[in-house]
Amino acid sequence: MLRSHTCGELRDSHDGSEVTLCGWVHRRRDHGGLIFIDLRDRYGFTQIVIPPENKAVFSVAETVRPEWVLKVTGTVRKRQADAVREENPTGAIELLVASIDVLNEAKTPPFEIDQEKEVGEEIRLEYRYLDLRRERMQRNIVMRHKLMGLIREYFYGEGFIEVETPIMVKGTPEGSREYLVPSRLYPGNFYVLPQSPQQLKQLLMVSGLDRYFQIARCFRDEDQRGDRQPEFTQFEIEMSFCTQDDVMKVMEGCFLNITKELRPDKKIQNEPFPRLTWHDALHTYGIDKPDLRFDLKFADVTELAKDSGFGVFSNAETVKAMCVPGGGSLSRKDIDDLTDLAQRHGAKGLAWVRVGEDAGPVVKNSTPEFLAALDNVTGANAGDIIFFAAGQFPYDIEPLGQVRNAVAAKLQLIDESIWSYLWVTDFPMFEKSRESGALGAMHHPFTRPHDDDIGLMKSDPLKARSIAYDLVLNGNEVGGGSMRIHEPKLQKEAFDVLGISDEDAERRFGHLLKAFQYGAPPHGGIAMGLDRVCMLFAGEPNIREVIAFPKDQKAKDLMLGAPTPMPEDQLKELHIKALED
Ligand code: AMO
Ligand code: AMP
Repeated sequence: MLRSHTCGELRDSHDGSEVTLCGWVHRRRDHGGLIFIDLRDRYGFTQIVIPPENKAVFSVAETVRPEWVLKVTGTVRKRQADAVREENPTGAIELLVASIDVLNEAKTPPFEIDQEKEVGEEIRLEYRYLDLRRERMQRNIVMRHKLMGLIREYFYGEGFIEVETPIMVKGTPEGSREYLVPSRLYPGNFYVLPQSPQQLKQLLMVSGLDRYFQIARCFRDEDQRGDRQPEFTQFEIEMSFCTQDDVMKVMEGCFLNITKELRPDKKIQNEPFPRLTWHDALHTYGIDKPDLRFDLKFADVTELAKDSGFGVFSNAETVKAMCVPGGGSLSRKDIDDLTDLAQRHGAKGLAWVRVGEDAGPVVKNSTPEFLAALDNVTGANAGDIIFFAAGQFPYDIEPLGQVRNAVAAKLQLIDESIWSYLWVTDFPMFEKSRESGALGAMHHPFTRPHDDDIGLMKSDPLKARSIAYDLVLNGNEVGGGSMRIHEPKLQKEAFDVLGISDEDAERRFGHLLKAFQYGAPPHGGIAMGLDRVCMLFAGEPNIREVIAFPKDQKAKDLMLGAPTPMPEDQLKELHIKALED
């Protein structure tokens, strides 16, 4: 090694030692004839002192600029008491320099590495290798590494076998648009990048692998958001001869472990993790991933509202009321913003009552009896506000779930010291598209129905519940899984409900259906979004902050400049012609 120590290593016990450090110039300060350089590497900073007496070294030190790469040899010395910096682990010492080698010069970086100043994301992503020099990013990347280590160690310990599944596959049924890879050898044919290893891990159960684990790269060509990337990572398992409880228990153990190791400062709200059915989650919180760090709940006032005198409520299939203690302090502007939010999520409006005040849309239109009964049912007091959602379950109730989250943030109702895990279970097998009216699988078409609901798949498909479960952390979906269908006959029934014909099923999933004829064991599994977990553990607002080289919000890699047009001859070889837009 070119160095004897790292820049984060020296303590006062090294006083008097001869050492050599390598690193980047973090800061240079010229002080009364002395030059000080903070030399940085990923382990920390060390203060280098260059006295003017050593003329040769001093003249080099005068030329160095931020981010130059240096090799520095010298003697460690204790700092005087008033110069000690407790906040820096190396703050008790400095290095009195004997020689400096400039290993490389650097252009002035497009943003300052030594400050936590906000820098535009575009420039950060274009110069990601410089952005990754910053302390925050180094912390995140190291946390991700530790997280992966802990996860691997845990699943190995639980007897899971890590298997790499291929990246060039055939279409997978996770429901997003797919990325295609053209085949040179088979004109007009394409490989597909996996949206997840779903089918392959099920095939590994047919193989008798029994307990499979992988940290797997997944690809989905969908619209980008803060918690989504076109390319992301799952840590995921599949188990044979198991029940839903077995899958949950083993994954829960993993999360207890990583929370205790990486976030010992957070109090896990409930152990074992509580469970809520999808149906109850939507009825009570208006969302399938409720944040339980705050206690706002919906009251069902459908029956009460029938005689309210207020047309919006009395004619609705479902009416929910959410009382927000102290919410009377929200301004009209706040309420208008919340109304906008509800409307962006498809609500027709957001009715509200300031408890104890004689104004507002509901008060004007309703009977006094209804208003009195409301206070009773919701436990409202003067100074509170009640918000309402009226319409069809679940679509018209969901906007109030969004309002619930926004109001909690606005009024600071969230207890940040708590880590709130929740299992949401019993998702419906199918959901109906509001636009097209078509039935789709809520999870994926291999998800198993509850035994009691197999009949419902045909007679009343929207009522059929599946054995599918999501893990929620602080109001974020961090993972989801299900027990699978392993019987060809039942699989065909599910395809029938989804309108997938025999030919279509054969074309898309023939390999799986064939495999299931050779003794598929009962099995189930789950996949967690590693990026999302890491984002939450690092306390970051979006997953790009915990991915070394992410795509931007328009799915571009700004550093590499991908995607790019390809030369004609390369396309020709692939039997592809790019159409003009
Ligand atoms: P699902 O589609 O629910 O399930 O995905 C599991 C988890 O992966 C994460 N995730 C994402 N993270 C970042 N960017 C994305 N675009 C993205 N999409 C999903 C989420 C999500 O909860 N094969 C099934 C799992 C199973 O049944 O075992 C699956 O992929 O955290
Ligand atoms: P309108 O009669 O449409 O003017 O609505 C009266 C009030 O009820 C307004 O405050 C609307 O924002 C609200 N509102 C309208 N439709 C709904 C709905 N489906 N759920 C909750 N509030 C609504």
